[in-house]
Amino acid sequence: MIDLKTEYAGLKLRNPLIAGSSGLTNNPERNKEFEKAGVGAIVLKSLFEEQIEMQSSNLLKDSDYPEASDYVQEYVKVNQVNEYLELIKKTKALCTIPIIASINCYKADNWIDFARQIELAGADALELNVFYLETSLTHDYYKMQTTYVNIVRKVKETVRIPIIIKIGKNFTNIPALVNTLKVNGADAVVLFNRYYQPDIDINTMQIVSGNVFSNHSDLSDTLRWTGIVSGQIPGINIAASTGVHDWEDVIKCLLAGASTVQLTSALYTHGSEIISQILTCIEEWMHQSRIKTIEEFRGKLNYKNSSDPSRYERAQFMKYFSNRD
Ligand SMILES: Cc1cc2nc3c(=O)[nH]c(=O)nc-3n(C[C@H](O)[C@H](O)[C@H](O)COP(=O)(O)O)c2cc1C
Repeated sequence: MIDLKTEYAGLKLRNPLIAGSSGLTNNPERNKEFEKAGVGAIVLKSLFEEQIEMQSSNLLKDSDYPEASDYVQEYVKVNQVNEYLELIKKTKALCTIPIIASINCYKADNWIDFARQIELAGADALELNVFYLETSLTHDYYKMQTTYVNIVRKVKETVRIPIIIKIGKNFTNIPALVNTLKVNGADAVVLFNRYYQPDIDINTMQIVSGNVFSNHSDLSDTLRWTGIVSGQIPGINIAASTGVHDWEDVIKCLLAGASTVQLTSALYTHGSEIISQILTCIEEWMHQSRIKTIEEFRGKLNYKNSSDPSRYERAQFMKYFSNRD
């Protein structure tokens, strides 16, 4: 009997597949469909700090009445939050699998109350999608890391539910950052978020949106850092995210050491039917490989357990070229 159960940030999941945060998880009934289709957990669409601030300031940007502007801005903010709390409550009422709320934040202070309200609304965990793009030439590099740590510490002091940090891959030392986040209370990390991709239209000579969805080639970085972080930092769960499109990708992430795997582009592209297909194929692969549980093979090819961990490292790339004619 194949057992797909896994543990993630203290939550017990029936299998490692998580519907990643996106517009698809912004609807309680659709979330129920994802549960029926077989996912082990769902991350709700993020509540965006920028979105709230933008909407509320746009409403009254021409107003002659600053007091009214303040009032409406506060009203919009409260209602955005209330809508989000309703999403959590309704999804929790319909679903039995763990429901992970998500906040997109880049400052510690503004979001502390939201985190508390989210916990009270019944979310099983909170994923913090921390996005901080620094372009100033005079910026102190370490300040960025401090920002992440401060957010984790403050939210951790405020709520009891598990805290998951979703990061991008543009850091000088990802293992060091993850280790610092772990020491400061993070229960799990998502490796990685995939941000808006800019492109350039050479005909209109304008900056335009690039591919919204990931593809298979995006999986390499996810595998590399999942393998390295899982081998170097025991005790923190990893959700592999970005570039996971089929059952083989899922198995690769688990072999690299992930506890769970998040799917977003695949759900947009193929719909929720892909979930049962992936689960069936994983079971079949485990059956053929005479493996009964996820833990039997999870991390087997991480940086610590692999017989050749250097394959995760960039030096291998040089070796590849030096071996070619
Ligand atoms: C249309 C769309 C909307 C998204 N919205 C969010 C969001 O609200 N919060 C968030 O943390 N990530 C969001 N993401 C990022 C995904 O959760 C995921 O991290 C990213 O797409 C990489 O995974 P994938 O390769 O499976 O698509 C969004 C992605 C897409 C494509």
